[in-house]
Amino acid sequence: MSFKILHLDTSGRIKDSASRPLSAQLVSRLREKHKDTTVTYRDLAKGVPFIDEETLLCFLNAPRVVSRTRTSMVSDSMTKELLDADALVIGLPIYNFSVPGCLKAYFDLIARAGLTFKYTESGAEGLVPNKKVYLVVTSGGTPIGSDADFCVKYVKFFFAFLGITDVEVIKADKLMLAPEEQLAKAKEQIAAI
Ligand SMILES: Cc1cc2nc3c(=O)[nH]c(=O)nc-3n(C[C@H](O)[C@H](O)[C@H](O)COP(=O)(O)O)c2cc1C
Repeated sequence: MSFKILHLDTSGRIKDSASRPLSAQLVSRLREKHKDTTVTYRDLAKGVPFIDEETLLCFLNAPRVVSRTRTSMVSDSMTKELLDADALVIGLPIYNFSVPGCLKAYFDLIARAGLTFKYTESGAEGLVPNKKVYLVVTSGGTPIGSDADFCVKYVKFFFAFLGITDVEVIKADKLMLAPEEQLAKAKEQIAAI
């Protein structure tokens, strides 16, 4: 059975992005480790639709007849890819102390009641089987794990809500201060995976 990787990039930069080559290096590393690998790639920065009223009606399976919206179909595909994957690799720049908006929009489409989480009498329960998530996090000056980092803590919390707790962070933070040193450390961290 092939090892399925879901590879997501979220940086608005293409040419000079730091997170994109690092997430690609990590996917190559995982390809080396797992002989038979399939990779599904999504460049979320190219656009993720926002949920609207009709889409919410599709999600809620409202009793009135609604046609499926394009956004609900995108959500269905994204949810299936998530459930099918053995590992996720996410290129993740810190934007304004949190995640790029495209990743938040993606999260809004994969948090699906009855599919990826459910509410029980004792609270919410994640329905996604645990899988490895690699976060390749870049920042200009915000230290990862600091009080100003609302990115990594939020992403970990969100995945835990869906049932995924095995999250490994590869960090290339404070790139404004010491870019070469920080990138070299991140590359070493990936090579050691
Ligand atoms: C819109 C925007 C917001 C940013 N906000 C932050 C921030 O809050 N903290 C920080 O340390 N760096 C911030 N940065 C810098 C990026 O995190 C940094 O340049 C990182 O390398 C981006 O990843 P990339 O090179 O893959 O695009 C911001 C960059 C952009 C474009």
